Amino acid sequence: MKDQQTIVNNARDYYSRFGTWFGYTLVLGRAQHFGRYNAEHRTEKLAQRNALEQFARVLAPRKSDKILDAGCGQGVVAHYLAEHYEAEVTGITVTPHEVDVATKLARHRSLRGTTQFELGDFEKLRFKDGTFDKVFTYETLAHAQDVERAAKELFRVLKSGGKAVFVEYEWDYDKFTAEYQKTFDFVCKYWGGFGVRQFGKGEFAKKLRKAGFVKISELDVTAEVRPSMKRVKKLTAPLRFLVGWNEHLAKHFANNAGGNFYEDAVALRAFRYKVYVARKEAK
Ligand SMILES: C[S@@+](CC[C@H](N)C(=O)[O-])C[C@H]1O[C@@H](n2cnc3c(N)ncnc32)[C@H](O)[C@@H]1O
Repeated sequence: MKDQQTIVNNARDYYSRFGTWFGYTLVLGRAQHFGRYNAEHRTEKLAQRNALEQFARVLAPRKSDKILDAGCGQGVVAHYLAEHYEAEVTGITVTPHEVDVATKLARHRSLRGTTQFELGDFEKLRFKDGTFDKVFTYETLAHAQDVERAAKELFRVLKSGGKAVFVEYEWDYDKFTAEYQKTFDFVCKYWGGFGVRQFGKGEFAKKLRKAGFVKISELDVTAEVRPSMKRVKKLTAPLRFLVGWNEHLAKHFANNAGGNFYEDAVALRAFRYKVYVARKEAK
């Protein structure tokens, strides 16, 4: 098993690569998560907007709420919450380039007063107990070396009565084919995540309970994100041959070259995309 620092370094390397930044910016419009499609939201732009709206509806931020975005990427979610709900959002990431981009974009949108971005690791948070009204992760905890430790940290910094929302993945590892395992191993190696099998059926909710969270609910929205996954698969098809042909070149385009990663797992019924809501009991 890789140690925590190695996993953090791998994630940082992955998100610092030009190919990664280029892929997210071009294909998902800076978001580092999938769009949510439905009858009215049939383009990626609209689906991305819908993903933010649906997420905000669940998190239900209030004006001046202190919110932690753990694994904030380029700040797309934090900016949205600050702009539309006047919440005070702190975003943390292990990737210095993302802190710079998120901060610059906040300045352009006059959100410097309500957002702040900094380097930080969700397994070792610098914040005092009970700092935040709400905490969330959005397609992030797959990078954790120890998901339970991250959940405990997020629980610790949440105020009593506070709410946590996690948009995360669930896998059926026993449904993997040998061929799928090969793609999975490539993504693990160059993405800085998934290395330890911590997201089996029902496992995440159990870890949240062990961390102290109560009133845990989960919603499976795989069908809504699948068109976004299919789109990524289609757009990245020209790069995919790199994975088999030259691994060292492929690693620079790990997210592009591994573009069939999610859609193929959904087709195998080995993957679900879920929104978890949990609470810290009020004192
Ligand atoms: C798939 S991106 C999601 C970004 C953002 N939540 C979004 O939806 O656009 C995962 C993010 O997690 C960050 N990350 C990875 N490991 C981390 C850790 N140990 N602590 C904090 N952030 C981490 C990465 O730097 C990246 O910003």
